[in-house]
Amino acid sequence: MAKCRICQTEYQPFIDFGPMPISNNFLSEKDFPREYFFSMKAGFCHSCSMVQLLEQPAADVMFHDNYTFFSGTSRLMAEHFKKFADDIKQNYLSDKASPFVVEIGSNDGIMLQNFAEAPYRHLGVEPSANVARVAQEKGLNSIVRFFNLDTAKEIVTAHGHADAFLAANCMCHIPTLHDIIEGIAHLMAPGGVVAFEDPYLGEVIRNTSFDQLYDEHVFLFSLHSISAAFAQHGFELIDAKPLETHGGSMRYYLSQKGKRPVSPRVKQLLQEEVNLGLLLPETYDKFRLGCEQIRDDLKYLLIKLKRDGKRVVGYAATSKSTTLLNYAGIGPDLIDFISDTTPLKQGKFSPGMHIPVLAAETLQGNYPEYLLLFAYNHQKEIFAKEAQFAKDGGKWIMFVPNVHVVE
Ligand code: TYD
Repeated sequence: MAKCRICQTEYQPFIDFGPMPISNNFLSEKDFPREYFFSMKAGFCHSCSMVQLLEQPAADVMFHDNYTFFSGTSRLMAEHFKKFADDIKQNYLSDKASPFVVEIGSNDGIMLQNFAEAPYRHLGVEPSANVARVAQEKGLNSIVRFFNLDTAKEIVTAHGHADAFLAANCMCHIPTLHDIIEGIAHLMAPGGVVAFEDPYLGEVIRNTSFDQLYDEHVFLFSLHSISAAFAQHGFELIDAKPLETHGGSMRYYLSQKGKRPVSPRVKQLLQEEVNLGLLLPETYDKFRLGCEQIRDDLKYLLIKLKRDGKRVVGYAATSKSTTLLNYAGIGPDLIDFISDTTPLKQGKFSPGMHIPVLAAETLQGNYPEYLLLFAYNHQKEIFAKEAQFAKDGGKWIMFVPNVHVVE
């Protein structure tokens, strides 16, 4: 039994992924013996409907000065964050003279850079110093800190209350969600907007994309669970918007209760969650069976290709791939290497399974017969970039929503 982090109700896990390493800990051979593993199990709280990992490594094991995830690596994501910023400016900040925008998990400033000019005032709060430094080098105001009530108090003293609080792919990382919301409650000006987006539970269930669960993603949110968590601090959902990013995300908009009109979309999306079965325990048992199917089908396919003498290379050393590879037990015996554009990951080995990670250029003129696409959330961009691979007869292996080969 575990206790829900949101409402303290006791619940059972519905899936056990086994021992799991830190998803972004791309490591050198000398560090293999010291590698950190935790037991990764996920559960569903019957009371507030939050889906969460039972155990999560300490925050400083995951977010530190050598954090290997840089948000700015994808061109389409830069466009996405510009649109996010425009939405906030037009719909929530246009009546303010000098709006103050705070973003947490601001990484290399990919979103914040859209608020860098007057009339906006901005501040990023980012715990990993190396990525925050990249933002600072771009001239963005970014402090190296975890966000909580104390940080919120410091910010209010130095800059005043915030008109917008933003986060992208960050809120679901934080097990002490109540501490964050307490900080938000202190930080926000009356009627200020809290807007954040994270991978959406509804899409994970629809697509069986279990790889969205890894050490950093301690929660998979839904409108129901977010409403329950924020209601405890006097906030209500005023809107929500489904997004295509990260294989299916949701952007939640909240404000202090009664301060802003509630969009009819909220009621509609809540009903869709009920229709999808997100409040029913049996949905999660069915999901587990789907995960086992993908795990077994992929392993079977890779073993078969190996026997047939085919080369398979992984495409993009994503955090998500750590869950898939370790859950399925797929290592360098089945995948030659993983190609990735992040310099910090290149020359290292994948967490847990220790598949070599090589520079994306390694692929040029040296395509294998098969590429296994780990970053399926960037499929459009990647298929366009690697058009030559398919032209030369190469085949993509996909595993979401099921294992299949794109001819
Ligand atoms: P993403 O799906 O955002 O990763 P995560 O699961 O960690 O959230 O993908 C980011 C990773 O993918 C990063 O290591 C860079 C790599 N990548 C490539 O190697 N090539 C590409 O064309 C893209 C878009 C990403």
